[in-house]
Amino acid sequence: MMTTRSRVIAVVNQKGGVGKTTTAVNLAACFAASERSTLLIDMDPQGNASSAFGVVDVPRQVYDALIGRCVLKEAVQPTALSHLHLVPAGPDLVGAEIELVSAMSREQRLASALADSRESYDIVVVDCPPSLGLLTLNALTAADAILIPLQCEYYALEGLARLMETVTLVQRHLNPSLELQGIALTMVDMRNNLSRQVEAEVRSHFGDKVYRTRIPRNVRLSEAPSHGKPIILYDIHSRGATAYLRLAEEVLAGIGQGASRTPPQLAEPVESAPEVEISQAAVLESAIEESEIEATPALGAASAASLGSATDPMEADTLPELESEPERSSHGETNPLPRSFDREGPRG
Ligand SMILES: Nc1ncnc2c1ncn2[C@@H]1O[C@H](COP(=O)(O)OP(=O)(O)OP(=O)(O)O)[C@@H](O)[C@H]1O
Ligand SMILES: [Mg+2]
Repeated sequence: MMTTRSRVIAVVNQKGGVGKTTTAVNLAACFAASERSTLLIDMDPQGNASSAFGVVDVPRQVYDALIGRCVLKEAVQPTALSHLHLVPAGPDLVGAEIELVSAMSREQRLASALADSRESYDIVVVDCPPSLGLLTLNALTAADAILIPLQCEYYALEGLARLMETVTLVQRHLNPSLELQGIALTMVDMRNNLSRQVEAEVRSHFGDKVYRTRIPRNVRLSEAPSHGKPIILYDIHSRGATAYLRLAEEVLAGIGQGASRTPPQLAEPVESAPEVEISQAAVLESAIEESEIEATPALGAASAASLGSATDPMEADTLPELESEPERSSHGETNPLPRSFDREGPRG
């Protein structure tokens, strides 16, 4: 059922191994579990988002759609989640980067390929490769917004500044309406001092564009792809599953889809927590039932816990002190990052 305009979100960071694919795969799965019709497009020749769903060696891939050998719909694969489709990638895609260099509108290929399909989905998630080459440019040109997974390390801010410069160029020349959806902190270890410092700095520059949910370092998240499953199907009890379910809620709220398909009591704050838990758990259970994976009472409890209130003691990854708006005025003058990305209006 289409009740909202589709939203194309590119998961991008030119730095390798920061959690782009893990974030793209698991957010897409969580959106689908909350009954948003979702398309995940793998734009990385490494094909990690495809193998994360056990999809390898299929005849049609995103490459074929980019070079015009087929339409995007023909490359769509089903997944274990009924509301989630996948356009896979493989090593062929390296060729596209070279073959398209001299082609007309070479940065618009994905946008054109997607034009026919995007209205069939509520959300399209694009997993980008670790570079700012032609494949990423195609993703940025096709997208409404970017979501940046960020690992809080020493060079994170420099990398972020460079990414933002590229985004500004794309806005100027290729896609004026491209927005910053949000920044997600990944592989977080709160015992690490440097990590906390970098986080504070990122929050002071980007304010409420930084999601409150932090994705913790969690071994279950790194195991899931080798089983061909997103974390909510691999281990719903894990901290990784809890975190991605929460992050998905934040992203949905930010694109105005937060309450569109959930009962009215969801709009209420803390008091209605029990109803929220029941309804969300039911949604998740039914999604998982549809995907032929046994739903147990424990699953319901886990998903309910994962969607509980922010005061949930389990939630060590969303610290109360971050509830207040970070101090920003003193950073306004020295912010090296494009102003247009400082505030895009409320995220939700
Ligand atoms: N929160 C996490 N906890 C533990 N391991 C993680 C987490 N997030 C990602 N990983 C692992 O870290 C590695 C890199 O993650 P991922 O593939 O998502 O990064 P990426 O940015 O897509 O990498 P690339 O730039 O190569 O595409 C993978 O082995 C993944 O399983
Ligand atoms: Mg990746």
